[in-house]
Amino acid sequence: MEDQAEKLREVMRKKNNSYEKSSKAEEVKKTRVITITSGKGGVGKTNVSVNLALAYARTGRKVIVMDADLGLANVNVMLNMIPKFNLYHVIRKQKTMKEIIVETEYGISIVAGASGFSKIANLTEAERQFFIDELNTLSSADIVIIDTAAGVSSNVLDFVAAADDSIIITTPEPTAITDAYGMIKIIATEINNLNMGLKLVVNRVKNAAEAAKIADRMINITSQFLNLKLEYLGFIYDDNAVPHAVLKQRPFMVVEPKSKASQCVQHIVGRMDKIEVRENGGFGNLLKRMFKG
Ligand SMILES: Nc1ncnc2c1ncn2[C@@H]1O[C@H](COP(=O)(O)OP(=O)(O)OP(=O)(O)O)[C@@H](O)[C@H]1O
Ligand SMILES: [Mg+2]
Repeated sequence: MEDQAEKLREVMRKKNNSYEKSSKAEEVKKTRVITITSGKGGVGKTNVSVNLALAYARTGRKVIVMDADLGLANVNVMLNMIPKFNLYHVIRKQKTMKEIIVETEYGISIVAGASGFSKIANLTEAERQFFIDELNTLSSADIVIIDTAAGVSSNVLDFVAAADDSIIITTPEPTAITDAYGMIKIIATEINNLNMGLKLVVNRVKNAAEAAKIADRMINITSQFLNLKLEYLGFIYDDNAVPHAVLKQRPFMVVEPKSKASQCVQHIVGRMDKIEVRENGGFGNLLKRMFKG
């Protein structure tokens, strides 16, 4: 009798364990939305977006890079691709999301963005619903990386507000640092209930010490004056592999996978994986926040 009860308990324990595991697995499957942003232009956002995506893809995850900057078509150029359609066509109901997602030869997919996101408020309820449903198909990915335009526009802020993580990129240049801080300040003041992890990557450094010094300073200022926690994710060396790959219109992670820059990007993914995604985040949150108006 005692034996039987013990067996039953054992069975229940196993059941509970497997239940816990499966619900955990679902949690992990939630889409992590990461925006890449900066104050000053030309500091490496698009390079980080594309190569970070590749590093994530190499860990077996499904990754979509969304170019939120239609005017400049950054991601497309960097990958030597010309998508015919973009989010604008989805908003206008001319295409479905599936039709505009382009698979690349690198194991990541890209979506060309529409610059008219502010116009979403002007859509009819039916158009809006269609767009939300379509945007939702991106949640099939594990990671969505959004490459934004430099500086502050309402679109960039919308994306930042909606993301799980925002990675601010700066270089050691004083103007880039000042602008990065300006960007953080605007994020801190413009976005209510900022519930996202604000992170810093210092690009184009000579060595780790140079990056750490800049990160320390920014973390201190942000905490002191904005009462905001900025997290240092890592740095990327100034590395000729980057402009070489840009000229070839291929990601440096592919052209020179062993380069210093590639190793740094891999390290950044490692750091990201150690940081838990916050509750209530994910793709549902992106949609909710973007359409709250
Ligand atoms: N780690 C690096 N080492 C050397 N050069 C780099 C590095 N990162 C970026 N660059 C150089 O800076 C240029 C601009 O990079 P990128 O296009 O990624 O910047 P961006 O922030 O996306 O620019 P924009 O604001 O115009 O969208 C690259 O073409 C490359 O030449
Ligand atoms: Mg860019």
